[in-house]
Amino acid sequence: MQKFKKLSGLLAALFLLSITIDALAHGDVTPHPVDTSSLDPLGAEWTVPNPYRGNDKAAAVGAVGYLHNCAGCHGLNAVSGGVAPDLMKLDNECLDLASKVKQAACMKEADVYFKDITLNGKRNGEGRSTMPGYAGVFTQEAVWAIRTYVYSRTLEERAKKPN
Ligand code: HEC
Repeated sequence: MQKFKKLSGLLAALFLLSITIDALAHGDVTPHPVDTSSLDPLGAEWTVPNPYRGNDKAAAVGAVGYLHNCAGCHGLNAVSGGVAPDLMKLDNECLDLASKVKQAACMKEADVYFKDITLNGKRNGEGRSTMPGYAGVFTQEAVWAIRTYVYSRTLEERAKKPN
């Protein structure tokens, strides 16, 4: 009995430790609403492609939303530290396409992909959540503002690279 108590105490301690490590690795993963009151409202129906792309005000609002919600896993300034995928990859793949028509189609597809994952989150093969979903907390303005921020960061990084 004594042994069992010791073991369960140890297991409880290990469990708490694993939660702490998780929290340290990812920071606070509770979804935080994004204040988009300074942006043009988009209505109840989802607008695709992202109507804010290239809008500096939306990128600035998205930067705050990104910092509070995504940076802990996807990296500060949208630069992935390897914990979660590089979000600039989506835009880079589209921008690498030669034709403008193909780029636009790719961007639209990437918008839908980004929105769906942001709203629903991700689970691994065992059903454990690897990314929280933001449905119910994020408006479409919030999702598109964050997507706009990541796009503007992608352009900034591409501008640094020699052609
Ligand atoms: C708790 C950590 C965590 C947080 C917080 C998080 N993500 Fe993720 N995200 C992940 C992981 C891990 C994956 C990869 C999951 C997989 O492929 O199974 C992922 C995948 C994605 C993908 C797909 C990327 C690709 O190349 O396929 C998108 C888009 C995404 N996240 C957007 C966001 C946005 C936007 C936020 C903030 C609103 C966010 N994530 C917050 C962990 C997180």
